[in-house]
Amino acid sequence: MKKITVFKGDGIGPEITDAVLKILEAAKAPLEYEVFRVGLDEYEENGALIPEAAFASFEANKVLLKSPITTPIGKGFRSLNVTLREKYDLYANIRPAKSNTAVVTPFPDVDIVTFRENTEDLYVGVEEQIDADTVHATKIITRRASTRIITDAFEYARAQGRKKVTCVHKANILKKSDGLFLSIFKEIAEKYPDIQADDRIVDAVCMQLVMKPQQFDILVMPNLYGDIVSDLTSGLIGGLGLLPSSNLGRDHAMFEAVHGSAPDIAGKNIANPTAFLWSACMMLEYLGEMEAAARIRRAVDQVLAESEHKTPDLGGRATTTEYRDAIIAHL
Ligand code: NAI
Repeated sequence: MKKITVFKGDGIGPEITDAVLKILEAAKAPLEYEVFRVGLDEYEENGALIPEAAFASFEANKVLLKSPITTPIGKGFRSLNVTLREKYDLYANIRPAKSNTAVVTPFPDVDIVTFRENTEDLYVGVEEQIDADTVHATKIITRRASTRIITDAFEYARAQGRKKVTCVHKANILKKSDGLFLSIFKEIAEKYPDIQADDRIVDAVCMQLVMKPQQFDILVMPNLYGDIVSDLTSGLIGGLGLLPSSNLGRDHAMFEAVHGSAPDIAGKNIANPTAFLWSACMMLEYLGEMEAAARIRRAVDQVLAESEHKTPDLGGRATTTEYRDAIIAHL
C-alpha cells in the first residue's frame, strides 16, 4: 500500500475530494490516505492555510492529491499553489487536453498536452511600487528552469510516441527573456531528431487553437502563457471540469485539477469531479498503478457516454454524488 497525502481545499474542494476518494476505494486502488483540511477555513480557525502536519505528510509521502484552494485577489496571502510549487520545486506542470467522444464540442479530435514551466516567469511575484501610479513586475527566465521543462517535453513525446513539440513564446517582443527560452528550445530540439519541433508566438497560437487545434501535439512554454493557454485547451474539450494536471519535481509530485474552487457552485452538489478524478488517474500512473487507473478511465468513459449521469457543466442534470455513484456502479 502506498501512502499519499490529500488536501481537501476550499469551495467545491471537499465535494470533489469526497467523490474521488470513494471512486479510488471502489477501484481498489492500493493506496492509504492522509487527508488534511487546507485553505481559508483552516486559516480562520488555526491561523495557517496549510497546517504543519499537512506539510510534514507531503514531505514524507512525496505524493499529493490536492483539490483547489481559494486565492484572495489583490491582497492578503500569496497563492498557496504558487507556494507549494516553489517549496517542493514542482517545476513541470503537465496538462493533457483530450477530446472525449461523449462530450460534444466543435472539435472531436483534440489531443494536446501542455508543458508549463511552473517556478518562474512573472509568477515569481516580485512587484515593485515605483510611485502611486506605476508598478513594475519582474519576469525571470533561467537556463536551468527552461532546460528541464523543455527536456521533459521532448522526453515525454518520445516515451508516449508523440510526433511534435511546439515552443510557445513572445520572443519577438521579449527578445531577451522569451528569446532565451526559445534559443534553449532550439538547442534541445536538435538532440531529438525523431521528434518534429517548431515554435509559434503565443497570440497566434491562441487564434490557431480555436481555429484548427488538431495541428498541435505537445506545447511547451513559460509559466504565464502556460496558465492561460492550458485553460483555453480545456475549453476545446468541454470546459474546466475536464482538465487534469500533474505538477512534477525531482522528489515530489502533486496532482490537481486545473480549475479553481468554483465558489459560485460550491456546496450545491453539482461540481464535476472528472478533472480531479483524471488527476488521480495520472497519480496512479505515476505510481505505476496502471490497472487501477485504466479501470477508472474506462468507467468514466462509460458514464459520460450515458448522458443521464452528466453534471450541469456538461449539459446534464446529474449531481456530483449521482455521477460518482454511476462511476462506482461501473467499477
Ligand atoms: P474556477 O476555475 O474556480 O471557476 C471558473 C468557472 O468554471 C466557474 O463558473 C466555475 O463554476 C466553473 N467550474 C470550475 N470547476 C468546475 C467543476 N469542477 N465543475 C463545474 N464547473 C466548474 O475559477 P475562478 O472562479 O477564477 O477561481 C475561484 C478561486 O479558485 C479563486 O480564488 C482562484 O484563485 C482559485 N483557483 C485555485 C486553483 C487551484 O487551487 N489550483 C486554480 C485556479 C483558481
